[in-house]
Amino acid sequence: MRALCWQGDRLTVAEVPDPELRNGHDAIVRVRCSTTCGTDLHLIDGGAFGPGDVLGHEFLGEVVEVGPRVRRHRVGDRVVVASVVACGRCRYCQQGQHSCCDNGSVDPTADELAWGQAPAACYGHPSAGGGFAGGHAEYVRVPYADVGAFTVPDGVSDERAVFASDAAPAGWTGVDVGGVCPGDVVAVWGAGAVGQLVAQAAVLHGAARVVVVDRYDERLRMVERHTGAETVHYQRADVTAELRERSGGRGPDVCVEAAGAVGGSRSLAERLRRASRTPLALREAVHACRKGGTVVVLGDVTDFVDAFPVGAVVQKELTMRGTRPHGPRHIPTLLEQMARDELRTEHLATHRFPLDRGPEGYALFRDRTDGCVRVLFTPD
Ligand SMILES: NC(=O)c1ccc[n+]([C@@H]2O[C@H](COP(=O)([O-])OP(=O)(O)OC[C@H]3O[C@@H](n4cnc5c(N)ncnc54)[C@H](O)[C@@H]3O)[C@@H](O)[C@H]2O)c1
Ligand SMILES: [Zn+2]
Ligand SMILES: [Zn+2]
Repeated sequence: MRALCWQGDRLTVAEVPDPELRNGHDAIVRVRCSTTCGTDLHLIDGGAFGPGDVLGHEFLGEVVEVGPRVRRHRVGDRVVVASVVACGRCRYCQQGQHSCCDNGSVDPTADELAWGQAPAACYGHPSAGGGFAGGHAEYVRVPYADVGAFTVPDGVSDERAVFASDAAPAGWTGVDVGGVCPGDVVAVWGAGAVGQLVAQAAVLHGAARVVVVDRYDERLRMVERHTGAETVHYQRADVTAELRERSGGRGPDVCVEAAGAVGGSRSLAERLRRASRTPLALREAVHACRKGGTVVVLGDVTDFVDAFPVGAVVQKELTMRGTRPHGPRHIPTLLEQMARDELRTEHLATHRFPLDRGPEGYALFRDRTDGCVRVLFTPD
């Protein structure tokens, strides 16, 4: 089959072996579409991929083969697949924290060395992220198919439902772990697909005011048009002062960093070597947050970060939360909201390319030219 792979120094579309069923719980999915994610850029920049790794963790397709122990799916089902690979049975999965699954990574060694424990794997990541081939391909092996694949209701388009894989669960998880309550003021750094979906989630959870911070006018316009949130252009305003002004002088109750990340490196030594200063957006979120508020880090930080304002966390009594998407917990609700037209996401797929033009699609996504928010790839 054809797949978008890392080729040592660049992306390329290459022939790779077709995936096969390996366990009774596996399914094989023929991909109908997949999208780019900011995390892919961090992984590429961090030199994380090895030759032949297949990218892509947000995808939707049709089930073409199921293992003997798959109960919820049949050949022909149109499914969206959660970006994290989770077993559904361990303590973390039972608590709905699927991205911490104990059994979702085939190669936990590097993560255990760096962090003490390995979280769940994610499709389209290098071996340090679990080693499952990604969705920028014609076919994908989906382990634990009853846990991670969800049938898309008729009437919900591929272009809408594909975002229930990763970006929308990230938004919903961010708001959930941030403890957003009705009446809260929520600030979000980053107006990419993830930040926009955090904003939509916060609005739907009853936040009184949601403010999204970025510097791309077309993304900020998209936020205003589609999410019901307000915006701040960070190069034209003092972000902290602006947020304080819009939150009754206190600062936002919940601050979500969905702007960027640090790292993607493969080894512990490399992570240490690249140890960097706290990203601006995270520092600003900690600084702006009200006393006793919560800061959620969604940016996919994988390296070590120094110069972090711990003092502000202690003195202002902040709650810090980091998270990855608890996909299987949120996807059923997201699909229902999509079917009822309460949640619309298709506008985020600003560009549509055949998979064969994958490298070009990633260049556009990286440079954010032509108003690009996400590129949708179709294998045919
Ligand atoms: N934790 C999760 O569940 C999860 C899931 C998916 C993606 N992610 C991560 O979320 C982040 C956003 O993903 P995306 O696909 O929307 O990425 P993206 O690259 O499309 O968007 C990031 C946006 O952040 C903005 N930004 C950068 N610095 C900023 C600053 N100082 N202040 C305000 N905005 C700033 C950029 O201008 C850009 O519009 C990435 O780091 C990605 O790795 C996390
Ligand atoms: Zn992602
Ligand atoms: Zn599990």
